[in-house]
Amino acid sequence: MSDPADIARAVELLKAGELVGIPTETVYGLGADAANPQAVARIFAAKGRPADHPLIVHLPGAAHLDRWAREIPDLAWELAEDFWPGPLTLILKRAPGVPDAVTGGQDTVGLRVPGHPLALELLRAFAAAGGSGGIAAPSANRFGRISPTTAAHVREELGDAVALVLDGGPCAVGIESTIVDLSAGAPRLLRPGHITAQRIEAACGLRPIEPGADAPRASGTLEAHYAPRTPMRMVAGERLLDFLNAQRHSGRRCAALCHSQPPQAGMPHAWRMLPADPAGYAHDLYAALRELDHADAELIVVEAIPAAPEWAAVADRLRRAVCGAGN
Ligand code: TXA
Ligand code: MG
Repeated sequence: MSDPADIARAVELLKAGELVGIPTETVYGLGADAANPQAVARIFAAKGRPADHPLIVHLPGAAHLDRWAREIPDLAWELAEDFWPGPLTLILKRAPGVPDAVTGGQDTVGLRVPGHPLALELLRAFAAAGGSGGIAAPSANRFGRISPTTAAHVREELGDAVALVLDGGPCAVGIESTIVDLSAGAPRLLRPGHITAQRIEAACGLRPIEPGADAPRASGTLEAHYAPRTPMRMVAGERLLDFLNAQRHSGRRCAALCHSQPPQAGMPHAWRMLPADPAGYAHDLYAALRELDHADAELIVVEAIPAAPEWAAVADRLRRAVCGAGN
């Protein structure tokens, strides 16, 4: 775990335009001073990420919104009040002076106040030391790969490209924040997360429009994402044992990711059991995928999860992982 000296060093590094690995409650971020375009450019280089993909700017509190966004609707203040610090990103019209490097040249900016004590301490110390108060941070993984949920994962992904990784322990939520676009009238859900559309509706009386097959896709939300190098496929729970047995008989090394029962009979090469509730499953998902990706299997078989609204965020991450796996 990191201590106050690490926070002081992280602030100095950020002010000097260096990159710092930051724990948040969702996943670890790769942070740079959001007001310094050269520092932000380093994020893209370290991740191997295309330059037109916008980044989320992390703030110490909602009081900092005005410096980064303009024409802020009442709804944004309401959601900030209800969910910040926490795993919700708001897309708002950007304020003049927010670097193009952060927004990918768009007229909007993604903002959130993270709910991790170490991240908040860093953000406050950075603002108090005369920094911009904004830390641009995408997830601290190589582009298209599994997001890190421990400090060790960040090192594994990025090695020496990051000057310091603050260690805040394993991330409590485990998958990326919910993203709601408030920049153009009715709220739109761009990325499902721990804070569900239902909870947003309960808080403000408005249900965000959920992405349908015909809705335009948010820039940067590529189909293939969060993916292991090992090919993956989903198999319905009732077919799982037969499937694993058949694979074993044909000499294929499979790894299995289960949540309802361990795959005893069809015993695969490696397996992980995840909690059978969506929050517990999300908490462990990326670490489990990372582990199974290192298990020298030819295929990761995922027991299909329930098709229920509370599983939407996990379903989204699994669908993208299956889509990008094996590359
Ligand atoms: O939980 C999280 O959000 C984590 C932690 C580190 O805060 N961050 C994260 O960042 O997931 P990243 O870069 O991996 O994903 C950011 C997402 C991308 O899909 C990007 O397209 C979207 O946010 N985004 C950022 N700014 C946007 C904007 N102005 N308009 C639309 N989408 C935006
Ligand atoms: Mg990411």
